[in-house]
Amino acid sequence: MQATVEPIYNDVRYLSAAQLDQLDLTMGQIIEILEAAFWVKAEGKVMMPPKIFFHRGGPRFYSSMVSASPALGYAGCKWQSGDPENSARGLPYIQGLYILTEDTTGQMRAIMDAEWITGRRTAAASGLVVKYQARAEAQTLGILGCGLQGRRHLEAVNAVRPDIAHCLCYDIQPDRQEKFIDEMSGEFGFRVESGASAEVVARAADVLVTGGPIESDRKPVIQPDWIKPGALVVTIDYDSYVTDGAIQAMDLVLTDDEGQIADARLNEGKFPGVNRIDATVADLVTSGKGRRASKDERILAFNLGIALEDLATAIEIFGRAEAKDVGTLLPLRNATRD
Ligand SMILES: NC(=O)c1ccc[n+]([C@@H]2O[C@H](COP(=O)([O-])OP(=O)(O)OC[C@H]3O[C@@H](n4cnc5c(N)ncnc54)[C@H](O)[C@@H]3O)[C@@H](O)[C@H]2O)c1
Repeated sequence: MQATVEPIYNDVRYLSAAQLDQLDLTMGQIIEILEAAFWVKAEGKVMMPPKIFFHRGGPRFYSSMVSASPALGYAGCKWQSGDPENSARGLPYIQGLYILTEDTTGQMRAIMDAEWITGRRTAAASGLVVKYQARAEAQTLGILGCGLQGRRHLEAVNAVRPDIAHCLCYDIQPDRQEKFIDEMSGEFGFRVESGASAEVVARAADVLVTGGPIESDRKPVIQPDWIKPGALVVTIDYDSYVTDGAIQAMDLVLTDDEGQIADARLNEGKFPGVNRIDATVADLVTSGKGRRASKDERILAFNLGIALEDLATAIEIFGRAEAKDVGTLLPLRNATRD
C-alpha cells in the first residue's frame, strides 16, 4: 500500500514596490545578476519564447514575457501593460505583475510588482553592454527620452563607468526635460545638461541611450553621421529612433536575443533595416565575440528586454524577501482543503 504524503503548501509571497525597496538590491548587483544569467542563456539552459504583444492602438500594448530555467530552479511570467499617455494620468508608462514559480514543486511562490523590476533590469542590461562596449575615453552619456528609463540609466551607467559624469538629455516634451535636469543633476555624480534636439544629443554622445516610445508606425530620425566615431548606441525602444541607414552603417550590431528580433520582424514589422546581427549580449559576456576591437568602432546594441532578465531579478528578490521576511503572505488555499 502506498504511504500517504502530506502535501506542504507554501503561501504566496506578495511584494509591493515599497517592499521591494526594502531589500536593498542595488543597480550594480542587478547588473551582476544579469551577467550571470547571460552565462546560463549561453549554456542553453533557459526556455524563453519571444514576448507576446497585443496592440491596443498606437503605442499602447499588453505584453507577456515568460521563461523557465530548471538550472536556476524557477520559472516565471510577467504580465504588463504599456501606455505613454499614462503620464498625463500621473501613472507609469509600463505597469505589471510578475509571478515566480518554483521548479521542483511547481508551486507559485511569489507575486511582485513588475514595474520595479522592469525599471531596473532594463537599465541594468544596458549597463552590462556599456561595461563591455563603451570606449575607455567615453565622457558623455546621451539620453533621448527623459522618463523612468532615462533616470535609471544614469544609475546603471554610473555603476559600471563612474568616470562618465556628463549627461546631455533631450525629451520631446520640454517640461519633462527640465524636470529630468532638475531631478538628476548631481545624482550619481552626473552633470546633466539640456540638448537642443535629438541630433545635438546624438552627435555629442559617447554612449547614447534611446528611450522614446515604441511606435507601431516608426518614424526614426538618427542618421548615420549623427553617431560619432567610437560611440556606443543602446536602444531600448527597438528601432524606433535609429534609421535603417544608421543601423547599416554601424561596425557592430548586437542584441540581447536574436530570436526576439526575428519574431518582432515577422509579427510586428519591426527591424526591417537589420540585415545582420554580429553577436548577442550572451556572446559578449561569455566568449568575447562582438567586443569592441578599436576605439573608433561604432557599436549598436538592440536591447529588446528579455524574460530571463525578469526571472533572474525575481529569483534574487524572492531569496532576499524570504531571508528578511519582507512581503505579505497570501494563502493560495484554505486551511481545510477539499
Ligand atoms: N527594452 C526594454 O527592455 C524596455 C523595458 C522597459 C521600457 N522600454 C521602453 O523604453 C521606453 C521608455 O520607457 P519609460 O518607462 O522610460 O517611459 P516614460 O514614459 O517614463 O518616458 C518616456 C519619455 O520619452 C519622451 N519622448 C516621447 N517621444 C520622444 C522622442 N521622439 N524623443 C525624445 N523623447 C521622447 C516622453 O515625453 C517621455 O518623457 C519605452 O519605449 C518603453 O517601451 C523598453
